[in-house]
Amino acid sequence: MKYPLRIAVLGCGGMGSGHVLAITGKEEERPDFLSYNVYTDGQIAISSLKGKLELAGVYDIDDKRMQWVAENGWHCYKDYADMLADPDLDIVLIATPNNLHREEAISALRAGKHVLCEKPVMMNSQELEEVMAVARETGLVFYPRQNRRWDYDYLVAKKIFDEGLLGKVFNVESRVMGSRGIPGDWRKEKAKGGGMMLDWGVHLLDRLVQMIPGKISSVYCKCSYVTGEECDDGFKAFLNFANGITAEVEVGTCQFIDHPNWYMAGLEGTARIDNFAGDGKMVRVTKWHEDNIVPIQAGEGLTKTMAPRDAESTEVIALPPVVVDRNGLYINLVDVITQGAEPLVTAEEAMRVLKLMEKLFEADEKNMVLPFET
Ligand SMILES: NC(=O)c1ccc[n+]([C@@H]2O[C@H](COP(=O)([O-])OP(=O)(O)OC[C@H]3O[C@@H](n4cnc5c(N)ncnc54)[C@H](O)[C@@H]3O)[C@@H](O)[C@H]2O)c1
Repeated sequence: MKYPLRIAVLGCGGMGSGHVLAITGKEEERPDFLSYNVYTDGQIAISSLKGKLELAGVYDIDDKRMQWVAENGWHCYKDYADMLADPDLDIVLIATPNNLHREEAISALRAGKHVLCEKPVMMNSQELEEVMAVARETGLVFYPRQNRRWDYDYLVAKKIFDEGLLGKVFNVESRVMGSRGIPGDWRKEKAKGGGMMLDWGVHLLDRLVQMIPGKISSVYCKCSYVTGEECDDGFKAFLNFANGITAEVEVGTCQFIDHPNWYMAGLEGTARIDNFAGDGKMVRVTKWHEDNIVPIQAGEGLTKTMAPRDAESTEVIALPPVVVDRNGLYINLVDVITQGAEPLVTAEEAMRVLKLMEKLFEADEKNMVLPFET
């Protein structure tokens, strides 16, 4: 297999332009049609894609975006058919609105191209079944871009969980909060795959089920529509795992004070990760039974149960640092295609999360706790 693999970006909006800059190693630049830098300094990848992955070109229906591509000297495909007809193209990277992914992915696979597809890979599990069938038939790779498995805060949470730093974990909470409602683009439209469950839920749920092993046994969910849009502008999901661990996942877009990104409780301690940068702390118990518990005045009453522990029975510990390679997903994709390496994200995993989101919508609609034995 020849190196570097050649990848083309379909849809050059907020995310597609980020892919173009990452693949060409120009992460510090800003597309002129955006008012913000796509990457901040902290997100610049630590590994290089040079020699592994090369940008073959870009196509977007928007002329302004194609003008930016042309001005930077990158190849402009005339349309999607022109991209698929490129004999030197190995991978199509789909970064268009969610309702277009199915057809685009099937066309790419049928044209003999591997596919890297933005999340949520499809609108629903039925669409993904169809795409997976074509991938199996053609023997090509369909790789879901669940890039937030490489987020710093998630990897810290996962390290705490995996290494048992809190003893036996019994509850995990994962949240993201904003205060501007749903963005004003296609994310507001149901037919285009809008709503916060598909936009952010897909990330948070994907990471959570990666971290907590085993099956989920039942779920409950409440979607919110507080900003008055047709799509969910947030949700609270409750997951019971067969191993006894409970989890809460929440996305909010009308929250002016944040909850922490992560709150994890174990029998020997608690961890709080405040934000994406991974600020926060762990408190671990050093002595479960205290000698003399003094009640505190709490509101209109006294309590021992809720009284803070004395400093000698706990210790405050810094969160464990982790090393993140933001290019890890692209590199794994290249290794999967060229060397048959194990994919770090699979279509089967994306399928489980799509089915989970479908079950959460159903639980919301029926206002019931529902079994989900997957
Ligand atoms: N993984 C992540 O962290 C992440 C972050 C943001 C967005 N996304 C995903 O990326 C995809 C795009 O989101 P976005 O925020 O970049 O949206 P966006 O609206 O900024 O960009 C979409 C682009 O697709 C173009 N487009 C629309 N129809 C097209 C067509 N038929 N052919 C070619 N181009 C077409 C639009 O002109 C636009 O430039 C979505 O699936 C979204 O969920 C992923």
